[in-house]
Amino acid sequence: MTDLFSKFDPLIALREQLLSTGLTDPFNLVMERVESPTVAICNGRRTILLGTYNYMGMTFDPDVVAAGKQALDEFGAGTTGSRVLNGTYVGHRAVEQALKDFYAMDHAMVFSTGYQANLGVISTIAGKEDYIVLDIDSHASIYDGCALGNAQIVPFRHNDIEALEKRLKRIPEGAGKLVVLEGVYSMMGDIAPLREMVAVSKANGAMVLVDEAHSMGFIGEHGRGVAEAQGIIDDVDFIIGTFSKSVGTVGGFCVSNHPKFEILRLVCRPYVFTASLPPSVVATAATSIRKLMDSADKRSHLWENSKRLHAGLRQLGFTLGTDEPQSAIIAVIMPDLEKGAAMWEALLNEGLYVNLARPPATPANMTLLRCSLCALHTEEQVGEILGMFAAAGRATGCIS
Ligand SMILES: Cc1ncc(COP(=O)(O)O)c(C=O)c1O
Repeated sequence: MTDLFSKFDPLIALREQLLSTGLTDPFNLVMERVESPTVAICNGRRTILLGTYNYMGMTFDPDVVAAGKQALDEFGAGTTGSRVLNGTYVGHRAVEQALKDFYAMDHAMVFSTGYQANLGVISTIAGKEDYIVLDIDSHASIYDGCALGNAQIVPFRHNDIEALEKRLKRIPEGAGKLVVLEGVYSMMGDIAPLREMVAVSKANGAMVLVDEAHSMGFIGEHGRGVAEAQGIIDDVDFIIGTFSKSVGTVGGFCVSNHPKFEILRLVCRPYVFTASLPPSVVATAATSIRKLMDSADKRSHLWENSKRLHAGLRQLGFTLGTDEPQSAIIAVIMPDLEKGAAMWEALLNEGLYVNLARPPATPANMTLLRCSLCALHTEEQVGEILGMFAAAGRATGCIS
């Protein structure tokens, strides 16, 4: 018998080697208590959270929590069914209406996760005969959506407008074309030149899907994302998003003005063949989305936090993923996995949690310490965070 697990041997060896040094496992941390969107207890210690996607700090919003509790009481713990059978409650319709209002779009379809939204929409609209042109640094859910639909995949160099245009021009005349982009790329925290890329895509007859998972709620005047900030949201055919980041719960969605959009509800397998979100989740999401419409102050405080942390880390001598802060994500580039893991542990011992990211999630084989800021981090907390980076950086030799 061939052991089907033998393909994982190199990863098992790498992990064992890393942990044999006595290092805390960076991928097995437990949040023993969560006190707020910015503080948790880990290993019995108060820990500032700088590695969550809770950009707008909605997880403990009193209105959001109350809406969830009420729905739990009134509708029970789960729907036990698909959206197309018994799994559409008034709350599912209400959250889709909240999304239509938030984005000012005609249609909204809610999935059980953002992963499934990409999987479902991409695989359903682009099939075997169609071409998907996508940024090489696209999220796994985008690649998996392409694979599920069996489309021809044409990747282009990250954020390279000319490369996108060249790939589009090479596709046979008359073929179906979908360009898939992200607003914010979550590993390095950089944004896409959507204005130019959407123009090139349209000029070459392609439909455009933009995943705004990491920009919703924060970027753009109304928090609609990078497409809004760059003034081209009306030219985008499909926006994908998630409830697991700024919205503060779990779930995914697609919004669109396409006149035939609603047919997706009957033909999209990751929408049809899975249970719908629990009533408490859609109630928290709807309340959160409506509050995010009116959160300009939080958005500007989050920008301040992002600028302060970026400038402070740079001053300390760390190498960052972007020259200027472009989003709520600031990536600190580590020389290698060993140093990255040591720095991650030193920060945890200081009382700071960040994400350790490594290949295949990261581009160009990089090890990153990904910091994601929250609108509820105070100025003092950002100061504390910089002090922890200074101490951990010196202790591990990452900075002098
Ligand atoms: C760009 C992007 N799209 C989609 C997703 C999936 O979101 P969810 O957590 O809702 O499955 C993620 C999650 O990290 C993401 O970064």
